[in-house]
Amino acid sequence: MELGAGALAASSAASVILQPQRLFGAGRPVAPSDTIRFASIGTGIRGCEHLQASLSVPGIQCVGVCDLYDSRHTAAREAVNNPSVAVTRDYRSILDRKDVDSVLIATMDHNHRRIFEDACAAGKDVYCEKPMSHLVEDGFAMVEAAQKNKRMVAIGSQRVSSVLYAKAKEIYDSGKLGEVFSINAYWDRNSPSGAWVYPIPPDASEKSIDWPSFLGNAPKVAFDPVRFFRWRCFRDYGEGLGGDLFVHLLSGIHFITSTNAPAQRAESSGGLFHFKDGREFPDLIETLYDYPNFRVTLRCNLNNDGGEFIGFYGTKGTMIIKDSTLSYKPQDTRPSPEGYSVYGWPKELRDQYLQQWHKDHPMPAALASTVDAEGESFANPPGYSDTVDHQANFYNAVRTRKPVVENEVFGNNTSIGCHLANFSYFEKTTAVWDGAAKKIVKS
Ligand SMILES: NC(=O)c1ccc[n+]([C@@H]2O[C@H](COP(=O)([O-])OP(=O)(O)OC[C@H]3O[C@@H](n4cnc5c(N)ncnc54)[C@H](O)[C@@H]3O)[C@@H](O)[C@H]2O)c1
Repeated sequence: MELGAGALAASSAASVILQPQRLFGAGRPVAPSDTIRFASIGTGIRGCEHLQASLSVPGIQCVGVCDLYDSRHTAAREAVNNPSVAVTRDYRSILDRKDVDSVLIATMDHNHRRIFEDACAAGKDVYCEKPMSHLVEDGFAMVEAAQKNKRMVAIGSQRVSSVLYAKAKEIYDSGKLGEVFSINAYWDRNSPSGAWVYPIPPDASEKSIDWPSFLGNAPKVAFDPVRFFRWRCFRDYGEGLGGDLFVHLLSGIHFITSTNAPAQRAESSGGLFHFKDGREFPDLIETLYDYPNFRVTLRCNLNNDGGEFIGFYGTKGTMIIKDSTLSYKPQDTRPSPEGYSVYGWPKELRDQYLQQWHKDHPMPAALASTVDAEGESFANPPGYSDTVDHQANFYNAVRTRKPVVENEVFGNNTSIGCHLANFSYFEKTTAVWDGAAKKIVKS
């Protein structure tokens, strides 16, 4: 870490600029024999981001890309800066290749399970985008497939590998916050792009897109480019704001608090207020989650541009993650005499009370009683990519066979959190997690 001049909006103190980790091979060459060959299955928006990020990860090589839409073969080749990388529409031909060590699954959510299970059975290690599962039962089938086939798995909420979140976890674990019973997070964005109203490319057709493979196990419907390109709006393929953004917030919260179980119950409210374009999900959702030792409130609002925020409210201090910055502010928890209600007492009684209080609480030595009123603040370095660090952690696991934090169990638990939120919203009931039955039930 080095001291930087940047300052958090919330604090006048200078922020410490954090440095990226790139855990494996950071600053070190990786022997060519140690190169991991991967292929990307699904090379749309996120797949292309991954391919670009992969160029900054030492010791890996993209040897193939697979997508159902032909123009994405070109986009993928551009992203990975290799015009001759092999392309295909058929992911099974990727899994058949002996020179592919691992696959990166960045398809629509409803297709994660099938490709994930087939990849594990084919002996490939898997980086699968978040949310891991489209349905609760998918998640458990995926956990079983990974464990049965002894595969290394990373799920793609990259904040879990972020240097900012690592620092937040360090502060949380230090006990500086005291006991944390309340966590509040939101992610608000207010634009057509933020609300998934993506433009339809002019060459989109049944000829350029393998529509039946897109549908997979989803109900058969006629070709509809809106469903293909704006799939997050439809319950057959996505989970709305729960799957898109809640999962990131929950993954960050689970990581920082060392939680590795789904919330016990959830209660959602919200509505579709603005983006009434045929979508099946709300554009505002707020959910209250019960965990054994704390409560979490989450909100995603597509009608305001509030950005991304997680606040941890402890008995000794408050920690805030806001976009790419982190701040910690301690509270003054030194003992002090009651200074409010005694002003409703007669002076004589009040003076007696204060005299006794000061007798019982002699002044501590000056240095022992200092409180850092400024707190601390941290920021990501300019241009920082937690996606690069998340990939680097995954490939480290592939080499060492030591699991990453966000493995299949972690990813399943945070996905269940998004399913709990949607269950409560759509069923208009409190959603209760029944861990023994591995399902969500009404309260
Ligand atoms: N971690 C993040 O920050 C982040 C950001 C964006 C998206 N995502 C996740 O990444 C995944 C993809 O999202 P996106 O925005 O890139 O969607 P997208 O629609 O842009 O791309 C998905 C691609 O998957 C392909 N695909 C679907 N089924 C396939 C199959 N059977 N075989 C081969 N290709 C197939 C489609 O052709 C499409 O091009 C989703 O799970 C999403 O939640 C994560």
